Amino acid sequence: MEELRVKFEAVGQGHVFRWWNELGERARRRLARQLEAVDLDRLPELQAAIEALQSPRTRNLSPAPTFTLANENYPYLLNDAARALAPRGDKELREGRVAVLLVAGGQGTRLGFDGPKGCFPVMPLSGMTLFEVFARKLRRAGRDYGRVPPLYVMVGNHNEAATRNFWEDHDWFGLQPEDVQFFAQGEMPALDAQGKLVMAGKDQLFTGPDGHGGVLQALHVKGMLADMRRRGIRTISYLQVDNLQTPVVDPAFIGLHLDEGAEVSLKVVRKHEPAERVGIYCLDDGVPGIVEYSEFSEQQAGERDGQGRLRYWQGSIAVHLFEVDFLGRLIDRGADLPLHAAHKKVPHVNDQGEPVEPAQPNAYKFERFVFDTIPMAGNVMCLEVPRDEQFLPVKNAEGAFGPEGVKQSYQDYFGRAVEIALGKKPPALEVDPLVAENARELIEYLKTNDDAKSWDLTKPLHIT
Ligand code: UD1
Repeated sequence: MEELRVKFEAVGQGHVFRWWNELGERARRRLARQLEAVDLDRLPELQAAIEALQSPRTRNLSPAPTFTLANENYPYLLNDAARALAPRGDKELREGRVAVLLVAGGQGTRLGFDGPKGCFPVMPLSGMTLFEVFARKLRRAGRDYGRVPPLYVMVGNHNEAATRNFWEDHDWFGLQPEDVQFFAQGEMPALDAQGKLVMAGKDQLFTGPDGHGGVLQALHVKGMLADMRRRGIRTISYLQVDNLQTPVVDPAFIGLHLDEGAEVSLKVVRKHEPAERVGIYCLDDGVPGIVEYSEFSEQQAGERDGQGRLRYWQGSIAVHLFEVDFLGRLIDRGADLPLHAAHKKVPHVNDQGEPVEPAQPNAYKFERFVFDTIPMAGNVMCLEVPRDEQFLPVKNAEGAFGPEGVKQSYQDYFGRAVEIALGKKPPALEVDPLVAENARELIEYLKTNDDAKSWDLTKPLHIT
């Protein structure tokens, strides 16, 4: 213990032992365990991230090349290019070379939901949760491609038990338990304005999830990358748990990714307003990457081309494909994704050791972003997809990306498909992901289903 104390004092962090003498045996052990896990050599990296936040570097940005496969007419039809590419992705799926990675380790603070975000009841009529929607989409992929892609779910320490229990209580939503794996991401401490480690209690250091970029280390440390290799997986379909409308696997996207020899690919949609809070895919000094909305200046975000269209229109929907070999190479060479600091309200203890819930941001939290792998990739492919077909995230407690806004957009989107197929739209609507994942599939299903012609469309319609 003395050794640990000397180490912390040497870097000006001796305050973490402030209440040591008052602590009982168990509390001491708990604190010591936490402190042993802190890599003090990394403190300068944390300080550098704070400095980068306070004085962002000037960037030399330019728009990045992007493929478009969507037909602008509703409902989006795959254009010839997409149709030509899909068989290659289809083959990868049939041969079991694709896995799905769902990141669900965030804290969902903005949504204000007390539990893992994936347990949020999102569907308008049944109240089906996000996790079940993803599980059903996977079962559907199993039907379409003859095998279910294995699912890897990244959780945080704070929601690991709740997430595992939820899936177990629901019998893995019809998936095989051996095809669903959970693994926890790492944690990062926080620093206050004086650069001191924040204490959450007399016997506890504050730590929070290390960002979705923590997935790189976690996949390795928790043996998930090795598991993927054992199963013959070559390509990872990466998704965020908040996006209700994303397909879990997309053969045209996978086909194009392989055709282009990309190590990382991403999907973007056209930003609908300059200030939209999405990361922008662009070139920084000629190197492709995603610049987060918070790091984009207002003036740059609003720049327009000769036709009055946004110059930086490529809003990332945080859907990626990663080659397993590429991630393995990054790990082998010890590559670390950069840290990003954010000024946040961090619960802590005051000088008297009493708990404080701050009303204003008081400390810096640190996260790594998975899209910082993009500049490290040998080849990157970016694909534009139709927004309402593939991007409907539940982010906030209210507004367009709040639960009510999302349910409304969902019903408007599928309602138009019902109207095209059956001539009228119902007052409320839900479509089981096992039946159709987008308007194209729903129209096809309704047009070939004779029963549908006799449905009462004056009442809420639940298509199962
Ligand atoms: C994110 C992207 C943004 C993109 C937008 C699309 C970042 C920094 N920005 O914004 O570029 O345009 O989505 O919807 O990601 N998560 C973890 N562990 C963590 C933190 C987050 O697993 O430590 C997961 C969350 O569970 C969630 C996802 O990552 O599924 C997104 O995190 P969030 O912080 O909500 O990102 P946004 O700010 O919405």
